Amino acid sequence: MNTACFIHFKLTFSPCFPVSTMFASLLLILLYVLQSVSTSAMEYHNTTDENILLAFKAGLSNQSDVLSSWKKGTDFCQWPGVLCSLKHKHRVTVLNLSSESLAGTITPSIGNLTFLKILDLSGNNLDGEIPSSIGRLARLQFLDLSNNSLYGDITSDLKNCTSLQGISLKSNYLTGEIPAWLGALSHPEVFFPSQNCNLQMTPRKCR
Ligand SMILES: *[C@@H]1O[C@H](CO)[C@@H](O)[C@H](O)[C@H]1NC(C)=O
Ligand SMILES: *[C@@H]1O[C@H](CO)[C@@H](O)[C@H](O)[C@H]1NC(C)=O
Ligand SMILES: *[C@@H]1O[C@H](CO)[C@@H](O)[C@H](O)[C@H]1NC(C)=O
Ligand SMILES: *[C@@H]1O[C@H](CO)[C@@H](O)[C@H](O)[C@H]1NC(C)=O
Ligand SMILES: *[C@@H]1O[C@H](CO)[C@@H](O)[C@H](O)[C@H]1NC(C)=O
Ligand SMILES: *[C@@H]1O[C@H](CO)[C@@H](O)[C@H](O)[C@H]1NC(C)=O
Repeated sequence: MNTACFIHFKLTFSPCFPVSTMFASLLLILLYVLQSVSTSAMEYHNTTDENILLAFKAGLSNQSDVLSSWKKGTDFCQWPGVLCSLKHKHRVTVLNLSSESLAGTITPSIGNLTFLKILDLSGNNLDGEIPSSIGRLARLQFLDLSNNSLYGDITSDLKNCTSLQGISLKSNYLTGEIPAWLGALSHPEVFFPSQNCNLQMTPRKCR
């Protein structure tokens, strides 16, 4: 495309083709528009998921080395901890930043990574509450937030994650009752948060 434009550009201004300044300007504008359109189609951006990942990074107080290559304008599907869908280009399907010394809160925008299947943020120092927006992740199959410093009640919006097969919330400071619907998930990978301080739990399948 660039080469083609260049040739076209040269032809336009070549002495063999005397064109009026006005015509040349119009042509230039047209070329510019055409190039912008083709560039945006060619590049990997749809930036939707990129912006969400950057918002997640910005919400952390300790981003650790692993996120240093998370920079705008680079292919976020190549960022450490990120995998994208093969079918839906540039939609994030896996976010795995397990045991990376991350500290800070989980941004609610994470609920807009709507193609996410696996979210593993275990073994960090994340605090704050589990954002209820995680309930928007209808494709989420595996959620591991264990071994952090999360507090508050387990959000009931999690029950909207109808694809959920495994969940681990153990070793946090979560409070309140383990919701009955969570107990209804009978997959072997379901771990109840047994090491949370003051959970009133029905001691079924606790680990
Ligand atoms: C980017 O992806 C989002 C989510 O699928 C979609 O709503 C939006 O229309 C897309 N934008 C472009 C420019 O393709
Ligand atoms: C911040 O991250 C560094 C590694 O990049 C780690 O050594 C340090 O312990 C972390 N601090 C906290 C408070 O998690
Ligand atoms: C996340 O990454 C860690 C370290 O690479 C790995 O041990 C763990 O199994 C991964 N989690 C998931 C859910 O795949
Ligand atoms: C998620 O996306 C919706 C629609 O695109 C937007 O209205 C909302 O503000 C976003 N939420 C967050 C927490 O980013
Ligand atoms: C919890 O995470 C810390 C790192 O933050 C790690 O050193 C420790 O081994 C983990 N504990 C368990 C039980 O996974
Ligand atoms: C979960 O579903 C309930 C009931 O359909 C709805 O009111 C709520 O907004 C949903 N939560 C999220 C985070 O999508």
